[in-house]
Order: sequence, then C-alpha cells, then structure tokens
Amino acid sequence: PVLYIVTPTFARREQFPELTRLSQTLFHVPHMIWLLIEDTSECSPILSSLLERCQIPYVHMVAPMPAQFLVTAKKPRGVSQRNAALQWILTHPELPEGVLYFADDDNTFDLRLFKDIRKTQKVSMFPIGLMGETGINSPVVRNGQVVGFISDWFGKRKFPVDMGEFAVNIRYLTYNPAKVAMPFMVGYEEDGFLRGIVKKWSDIEPLAEGCTKVWVWHTTAEESLLPVINSRGGDSNLRDLLSEL
Ligand code: UGA
Ligand code: MN
Repeated sequence: PVLYIVTPTFARREQFPELTRLSQTLFHVPHMIWLLIEDTSECSPILSSLLERCQIPYVHMVAPMPAQFLVTAKKPRGVSQRNAALQWILTHPELPEGVLYFADDDNTFDLRLFKDIRKTQKVSMFPIGLMGETGINSPVVRNGQVVGFISDWFGKRKFPVDMGEFAVNIRYLTYNPAKVAMPFMVGYEEDGFLRGIVKKWSDIEPLAEGCTKVWVWHTTAEESLLPVINSRGGDSNLRDLLSEL
C-alpha cells in the first residue's frame, strides 16, 4: 500500500525549518505521496522549490482557512487543508490502495511509525508523546483491542485522540464518502472526523507494538512574534537579500 501523508502548513518564521526537517524524514519513507497543503491562496514558490528538491512524489495545493475563523480566538488549524486532501483522495478513485496519515508540519516522527501504519486495514491508533501534562496520549489496549484512551482532555469526545494518533485505510473512507469530513470545531476535529467513519470499536487496530511504543511526538517550536521572513528563506536567498542592500 501507498502512504498518503497529509501535511497542512502555514506561513510563519518556523515554517521553512520545520518543513526542511519533515521533508528529510519523509525522504526515507518509500512508496508514499506527500500532500502538502498551504493555508493561503497561492502556492508559495519557496515551498514549490523545497518539494522539487526533496525527491518525494508530492501534491502541492492550497486550502485557506475560511475567513470567518480568522477573527476567532481559537482557530480550527489545518482543517481546510485536511478536508481538501480528503476530497482529493475521494475524487481520484484511480489512486492505488493505501493509508492516509495526517502529519502536522511541526511534529517529529520515528521512521518505524511509517512502516507500521502501512499495515492499517481500517483505522489504526497508537501513542503520541509530548501531549499535555500527562506527556502522552494513547489508546488503552486490552486483549489486543482498543478499549479506551489516555488523554489529558476528554471533553465530550468519543475518540479523544490527537491528529497524529491515528491512520486510516483509504478504502475505509470510500464506504460512505458523504460522511468523510473534518468539522471546523476546535478540539473536536479528530473526534468529528472519526465519528463519521469508524463503524465499530473492533475496527480499530492498535499499532506500535500494542501501543507500547512512542513513534511520534507533538513537538512545537517556541512561538515567535517576529515577522515572517521565510517567504524568501533558504540559503541562496540570503545572497539575494544582501545584494539588495
Ligand atoms: C493540535 C493537533 O495536533 C492538530 O492536529 C490540530 O489541528 C490542532 O491541535 C488544532 O486543532 O488546533 P497544535 O500543535 O496545537 O496541534 O497546532 P499546530 O501545530 O499549530 O497546527 C496544526 C497544523 O495546522 C499544522 O500542520 C500547522 O502548520 C497547520 N496550521 C496551523 C495552519 O494551517 N494554519 C494555522 O493558522 C495554524
Ligand atoms: Mn503542532
């Protein structure tokens, strides 16, 4: 099976270094397609050149956050982009069978994760590190079955999991395409998506050696309030910048 790795991204100082790191991780993952989807109205040339350089089959798209959310305090981050990726997959039935994984641009991945999620038949779940006060989010496994979750926030969620904590076989999406969507509801993006597609608890496959290993971390760069300068970014651009002084 092919891996469909979906990465929402948005312009900020840390964007270029984060994507450099992620692209150099994904370089080591065979048989995958990288869907890099920007939260803006036009594909950035700097990201096009990064994609060209990294030798990974890719799809470069944009799907900006709807304007109504730009003014709200808490934003549904990356939701437009993930929905665009879901629609892209659903509207291309000729795509080879495979597994979808939402890989945020700032997370950190052990290569064993990608090997493992390729086994996903329906929907798989596994631990993610550096989450909240507990330090971990994880499915709870009993007799090889997912029976509950560890999370520092449950809310009213049926599936209190992070975006990086599950993968889905794209065949599992095509059973009921009308229900395949991620809601623009802060805190409930994963739960809403999973409620739409997961038919029964026994469809959930625990991975990472029965959820005993952490192969993905919810890392975050310290937020910088300085202006975005990476629209030029990269090494050769420094020369351009200096030549303009
Ligand atoms: C957590 C979850 O891990 C995310 O998957 C989830 O989307 C997010 O919460 C949320 O619902 O707010 P967190 O680290 O808090 O993630 O969020 P970010 O890493 O800032 O954003 C998640 C993804 O959306 C990233 O790939 C980021 O590049 C992208 N994003 C963020 C945008 O496309 N636009 C934005 O304005 C902000
Ligand atoms: Mn993040």
